[in-house]
Amino acid sequence: MSALSDINQEIARCQLCAIARTRTRAVPGEGPEDAEIMFVGEAPGWHEDQQGRPFVGPAGKYLEQLLALIGLKREQVYIANVIKTRPPGNRDPLPSEIANCRPWLERQIEIIRPRMIVTLGRYSMAMFFPGKTISKIHGTAQKRDGVIYFAMYHPAAALHQQSLRPAIETDMRQIPALLAEVKTMAETEAPVQQLSMFED
Ligand code: URA
Repeated sequence: MSALSDINQEIARCQLCAIARTRTRAVPGEGPEDAEIMFVGEAPGWHEDQQGRPFVGPAGKYLEQLLALIGLKREQVYIANVIKTRPPGNRDPLPSEIANCRPWLERQIEIIRPRMIVTLGRYSMAMFFPGKTISKIHGTAQKRDGVIYFAMYHPAAALHQQSLRPAIETDMRQIPALLAEVKTMAETEAPVQQLSMFED
């Protein structure tokens, strides 16, 4: 059995948070173990809780459309969330829930070793860009230890607020060039440097 499916089973058994008792299914994440890009959303919603799969409701449909803009299908990327259980009524995740779930995401990242981690929404952004504000840093990237971290608005936010759509779509279209840049740097083993598209 693969390391990821081991984790999936452990997540399904996890009872650290009270919300474990209200879930239909845990939603560990899905995608290839060798995915180059990992998208990290916030938390499962109703549809995800029913199916045990991430981003399968309206936000997921929009995420698939965004991926299509850059010629990708969801099967080609890894899709995870900050927390793996739906908070009742889709309330915001609690700090304790985020802290309890954090090791799962860390282990997923360790196994997949993606070249690029794309944060969707502010809870995911807060994990990788602590202290930042999404309206200021969406569409910007940071490279740390050979991995690109790239912040985007949450697809659900763009569904509810049409005015965010041009921004989320423009940000999505940056991904292929960023990925190509980090891959080229890794291949040529260029010295660590600030890339033009990256903020400090
Ligand atoms: N929103 C998220 O953040 N994650 C999902 O899996 C679905 C909706």
